[in-house]
Amino acid sequence: MDVVNRVFNAESDHGTFVYFIAAIAALNGLLFGFDVGVISGALLYIDQSFTLSPFLEGVVTSSVLVGAMIGAAIGGQLADRFGRRRLTLAGAAVFFVGSFGMALSPTLGWLIVWRVIEGVAVGVASIVGPLYIAETAPPDVRGALGFLQQLMITLGILLAYGTNYFFAPEFLGIIGWRWMLWFGAVPAAVLAAGTYFLPESPRWLVENQRVEEARSVLSRIRDTDAVGEEIDEIREVSEIEEKGGLSDLLEPWVRPALIVGVGLAIIQQFSGINTIIYYAPTILSNIGFGDIASLAGTIGIGVVNVVLTIVAVLLVDRVGRRPLLLVGTAGMTVMLAILGLGFFLPGLSGVIGYVTLGSMFLYVAFYAISLGPVFWLLISEIYPLRIRGTAEGVASVFNWGANFLVGLTFLPLIDRIGEGYSFWILGAFCLLAFVFIYTRVPETMGRSLEEIEADLRDNAIMGADADAGPAEREHRTE
Ligand code: BGC
Repeated sequence: MDVVNRVFNAESDHGTFVYFIAAIAALNGLLFGFDVGVISGALLYIDQSFTLSPFLEGVVTSSVLVGAMIGAAIGGQLADRFGRRRLTLAGAAVFFVGSFGMALSPTLGWLIVWRVIEGVAVGVASIVGPLYIAETAPPDVRGALGFLQQLMITLGILLAYGTNYFFAPEFLGIIGWRWMLWFGAVPAAVLAAGTYFLPESPRWLVENQRVEEARSVLSRIRDTDAVGEEIDEIREVSEIEEKGGLSDLLEPWVRPALIVGVGLAIIQQFSGINTIIYYAPTILSNIGFGDIASLAGTIGIGVVNVVLTIVAVLLVDRVGRRPLLLVGTAGMTVMLAILGLGFFLPGLSGVIGYVTLGSMFLYVAFYAISLGPVFWLLISEIYPLRIRGTAEGVASVFNWGANFLVGLTFLPLIDRIGEGYSFWILGAFCLLAFVFIYTRVPETMGRSLEEIEADLRDNAIMGADADAGPAEREHRTE
């Protein structure tokens, strides 16, 4: 396997320390995933302590997302100001304290407040992890290392499902949900401890006039011959490249990339993945499984998500982004149609129950090879260098915002129109997603970031010089 060879090639010009850095930085994804996954099980038991309407369940689930939107919006600037390492440490500390805060909440109000605070740490983690990895990874393995973050997200979700199963419904006389939420402190402590041993990103050091420190960091993660060259390159870029702002994002030639980034951000969430990730146990118990069986089934979903993400890592540089996205969204559409149908048929607990369960598993499998990892990858590829950070931040805020909307409205929607129609609505979104991807999303496999940027300038991002009039083209080439 090409990717595997490249990652583990002993003769490569970089030592193993760079993998250690990427693995620790990707633990940011573990926090992200843990927080996303843990609430699904906790929801089954929180009503033992507080009274919850479907709307309040949505608020408890989604409050973390409000915080995450804030965290994603400010994460880039904070990372520039304080450095990647310090921000990661601060995020882990907030997550650690937040886990205790949530677990010890005396009232529902406090639980919601702590979830917003925890959310800020999650939003920051969603930005700083990929940034740290991209800035330290050698170019030849940057794609594979970049995917580590999504792999960690899926592992975090699985860890949360395992925790939910272990602590349900009660452990040592303490109601399960408090243990579940507390357990997030463990990965946070691991991230903080690991980050303590990490060096600061060499790029950030150069930008802050700490060139000698940058040189010593680079010499630990690169072949010594190449260090001087890389320092010069970083200096050059940081000297000549003025950072672009939000207004640059609206320039006509950048617009196709903006539409793809924001469009995929919304699509990833409106495809409904988190209705399954958050509410799988609730849905399974509606199908007729007992509480414990529902949590066990949910672990199965977590395993499928991890395994198929690994498959995607191996496929993405061979078959390309577009085929994965198209096959994935087509499959998700069909599975949601079947899942919805299951709720219209009588006798969900028999054979139909298993078909419904199967369609849920396959739906997650199709997601894990497509929208899951490819969205985060594409938003790091399609934007021009000058505005890459800002643009990624914007896409990420839209992603958390859409996540929030779906989380808040899904249970009330089920309450109103039932599971069947609700899943069909999500299926219709996946169908629209397929059309959007087919018409708008470019293939980036095998193209350098500079080539992608040049195509964007020439309005040839989809491979053909599409529909711009001569006047517009002239304007662009000025
Ligand atoms: C999404 C999350 C989702 C996760 C599921 C991520 O890429 O951004 O919202 O929970 O995938 O694996």
